[in-house]
Amino acid sequence: MTGKKLRIGIIGCGMVAYVGHAPVYHKSPYADIVAVADPLESHRKKFQRKFKVSKLYENSDDLLDNTNIDAVSICSPHWAHVEQVIRAAENGKDVLCEKPIGIDLEDVDRMIKAVEKNCVIFQTATQKRFDPGFQYIKEGIMNNEIGDIFQASVFWYHGMPDFGDNLRKELIQEIGLWRLSDKRCGGGDLLDHGPHYFDLYRWWFGDVKTVSAEIRRIHQSRVNEDHSLVTLSFKDNEKTAIFERSEAIFGDVYGEEMGRIHGTEGSYFFNVPSEYKKKPMSLKKHHRVNVTSKPTIENIKFPHDKWGHAYSREVRSFINQALDRPNDDVGFPKKWIPTIYDGRAALEIVLAAYESQRTNDKITLPLKKYKKIDWNCI
Ligand SMILES: NC(=O)c1ccc[n+]([C@@H]2O[C@H](COP(=O)([O-])OP(=O)(O)OC[C@H]3O[C@@H](n4cnc5c(N)ncnc54)[C@H](O)[C@@H]3O)[C@@H](O)[C@H]2O)c1
Repeated sequence: MTGKKLRIGIIGCGMVAYVGHAPVYHKSPYADIVAVADPLESHRKKFQRKFKVSKLYENSDDLLDNTNIDAVSICSPHWAHVEQVIRAAENGKDVLCEKPIGIDLEDVDRMIKAVEKNCVIFQTATQKRFDPGFQYIKEGIMNNEIGDIFQASVFWYHGMPDFGDNLRKELIQEIGLWRLSDKRCGGGDLLDHGPHYFDLYRWWFGDVKTVSAEIRRIHQSRVNEDHSLVTLSFKDNEKTAIFERSEAIFGDVYGEEMGRIHGTEGSYFFNVPSEYKKKPMSLKKHHRVNVTSKPTIENIKFPHDKWGHAYSREVRSFINQALDRPNDDVGFPKKWIPTIYDGRAALEIVLAAYESQRTNDKITLPLKKYKKIDWNCI
């Protein structure tokens, strides 16, 4: 496909497509958005106006059957991903699919078969790997910059009020509140946000061995959980990690997202602004130059550059993969681009956390059997 522009279709014209995917395709010299699909006319029209898209579909199947489209970004709600990916693969289209890539492992395995059989590219849209700060940490870990790592902790909060009975249908559609109220979701806030850091943890530290979790539904008007604490151990038997995630805390919508990684010779401390703001993270490295020196604190700076932001680098990497171009302009090795297997592994950790909460046990991976939590029966 070298020398040709990638013809893109976007499925689901909501927030992540509008802020994360479409602006990058629109700006890229190597891609054209030729069509979008969304059941909501107002969302389709918004894309048409902003990104000058000529073909609008109400039904995603029609976009997926369009032979003038080479690749798709799947940005629909979680439950729609699997069938859309399978149809895309069967029609020979490369796929960038939002996380969670599905809500059920058996369905995801069907999707993996379709992707493998049809030899299409599948990239999981866990864009945090592409954040220059998280890439810096990955390279630092590989270079043993802070010694042997033994602990990582992430705390990530959105302050969402309890909407109670005010969750009107229009509001749900307009601002994605299906997350709080739609039974098809397959899970709540942990399914929505856990895949990001579970993916980063695996990328930094290797495969996960055990998962234990305490998960709660604080706002009873929700169909699923809104507060989770997950503890992981890794196959190397050295590192442990915690992930605390909440939408139930009182305060600002984009409350806080921060983490610490501790090694025997230093630590990384990071604070991440909301991804929609596309600003660089702040990263501090505490370390010792040698055994006798005092610990130093280094502020690592990253440029405020929207084209170099996580979403941009993710989508630009997808375009490069699909066009079989090198990824040097992004500065991210192709071997690190999240695959369908990475997407599955992150989902497996979320489902293991649910199983841990349901059974009150520590779960060893691979996850053999699991049942979804029914919050109405607790
Ligand atoms: N990577 C990230 O940082 C990130 C951020 C936000 C959302 N997401 C993921 O992206 C997906 C969409 O989330 P969002 O926040 O953009 O939600 P949203 O509600 O803002 O957008 C979803 C859109 O999909 C449309 N839609 C509904 N059913 C559909 C179907 N069957 N086919 C096609 N379109 C359909 C809706 O009308 C809406 O326009 C979710 O899976 C979510 O987890 C990822």
